Amino acid sequence: MTNIILSPVIAIDGPSASGKGSVAERVAKQFGFHYLDSGAIYRLLAYAAYQQQVSWSDANALADIAAHMVIKFEHGEAYLNGEQVSAHIRTEQMGKGASEVAVHPAVRTALLQTQRNFRQAPGLVGDGRDIGSVIFPDAGLKIFLTAAVETRAKRRYEQLLQRGETASYAHILDDLQQRDLRDSQRAAAPLKQLPDAILLDTTDKNIEQAVNIIIEAFKKASQTA
Ligand code: DC
Repeated sequence: MTNIILSPVIAIDGPSASGKGSVAERVAKQFGFHYLDSGAIYRLLAYAAYQQQVSWSDANALADIAAHMVIKFEHGEAYLNGEQVSAHIRTEQMGKGASEVAVHPAVRTALLQTQRNFRQAPGLVGDGRDIGSVIFPDAGLKIFLTAAVETRAKRRYEQLLQRGETASYAHILDDLQQRDLRDSQRAAAPLKQLPDAILLDTTDKNIEQAVNIIIEAFKKASQTA
């Protein structure tokens, strides 16, 4: 019998604009782990569908695109079929599209193995909505990273202004509330805090504090594993 030793996984799930991406990337860097931004995969699918004029409600056509699209992440940039599309997928429109394509069970199934392939030595930090529940239920550490919706809206608003974009706080708040509802109320792999996940509320914490809490929790979990 061969014993396959799987690389460790840190799963960071939580709602939109909770800071998951920044936190997960820094934790991955600290341990020299790979990083999976699963939201970016759903955004790439929304963008691919948009390019091909396929509706975000057409589950079968979307699952077909998901099964055939070639994605790559390199030096923080996202590629779709060989084209660098980072700026295209980071828009509020593609965030909404990602949330819409993600409700279809056929889409989620088509993207399951793609996400599992990111688990490589020496380890992985994955962020999303169902990393700890569906993609890597055996993750050694599960974090539910959240913050009050008003705080998340304020952070997103300031981020957009910094990028030189025009933004409306009220519009962002409304959009986040709708996205929270869609991501947590859907039947397939809804966003929820798992019983074995550590709750990390960053309403009153900065990125560095959140990163340090996760680093310490992983060290502790590794000692007791
Ligand atoms: O993390 P994000 O804002 O980039 O994610 C965009 C959308 O993708 C999110 O609103 C829901 C969907 N998503 C998902 O359903 N499951 C994941 N693991 C990650 C993202």
